[in-house]
Amino acid sequence: MLKIDGISKHFGGLPALEEVSFNCREGMTTALIGPNGAGKSTLINCIAGSLFPDAGVIHFQNQRIDGLPPHQRPYLGISRTFQNLALFPRLTVLENVLTGLTPEAEQSFVKSLLRLPATRHRERLLRLKAMAMLDNFGLTDKARWPVSILSYGDRKRVEMARALVSGPRLLLLDEPVAGLNSAETARIGAEIRRLHGAGLTILLVEHDMDLVMSVSDHIVVLDGGRLIASGAPEEIRTNPRVIEAYLGRMSVTA
Ligand SMILES: Nc1ncnc2c1ncn2[C@@H]1O[C@H](COP(=O)(O)OP(=O)(O)OP(=O)(O)O)[C@@H](O)[C@H]1O
Ligand SMILES: [Mg+2]
Repeated sequence: MLKIDGISKHFGGLPALEEVSFNCREGMTTALIGPNGAGKSTLINCIAGSLFPDAGVIHFQNQRIDGLPPHQRPYLGISRTFQNLALFPRLTVLENVLTGLTPEAEQSFVKSLLRLPATRHRERLLRLKAMAMLDNFGLTDKARWPVSILSYGDRKRVEMARALVSGPRLLLLDEPVAGLNSAETARIGAEIRRLHGAGLTILLVEHDMDLVMSVSDHIVVLDGGRLIASGAPEEIRTNPRVIEAYLGRMSVTA
């Protein structure tokens, strides 16, 4: 479904990604792991369109997408969350989730300019959709709270709700449980498994190996911008190169 082919990206002459290639299969959860600075977020940004790769090609459902600007992504069916949250702090929880419906909301806005009678009905539908998603994440009671007063865990869930409200086909998650306690992490893990069960294709960047091992069908490992391994969770867990570059170092620091 997603085909990453020879992607390279440099920042000021320093390589962040070097000829990275792998595929995400439809309906599968693929994890992208590796040490800090390995290039994981850079790759997510290239897929999401907020960065243009210097070389290589990205196809999504047989369409080349690496040259398309980020605002085209929702139309394609690609949604994302950000490693460093990117919510609008002064808007309410509900308004933030509504921003995830941009393509539909824009159509509704154009119609409202034309004063078409269906508009108010349409806006109500969008709100209902957003409220249903908030309910899914246990955020109904906080729908009218400004995001700025929410706990970090709640903000992480608002980000996921915003990414999911448009009904994407591909979900890019950049460290969805970083900074969360174990109960909150378990809740996000259950949500990822539910989405997987519903057939969504997911690319997950995460350092929490318990989560990665429990939700992934396939794991891709980056180190220093290069792909060093790719395989099933059990293969990756025991791969000497991955242990040396990443997993071994983690257990030493843990
Ligand atoms: N906008 C930028 N300008 C300059 N250098 C950047 C930029 N974004 C990333 N880098 C550099 O590119 C490399 C890869 O960074 P990236 O954020 O993709 O790593 P990561 O694998 O997501 O790490 P982490 O696990 O810490 O989030 C790092 O050396 C980083 O300093
Ligand atoms: Mg990152």
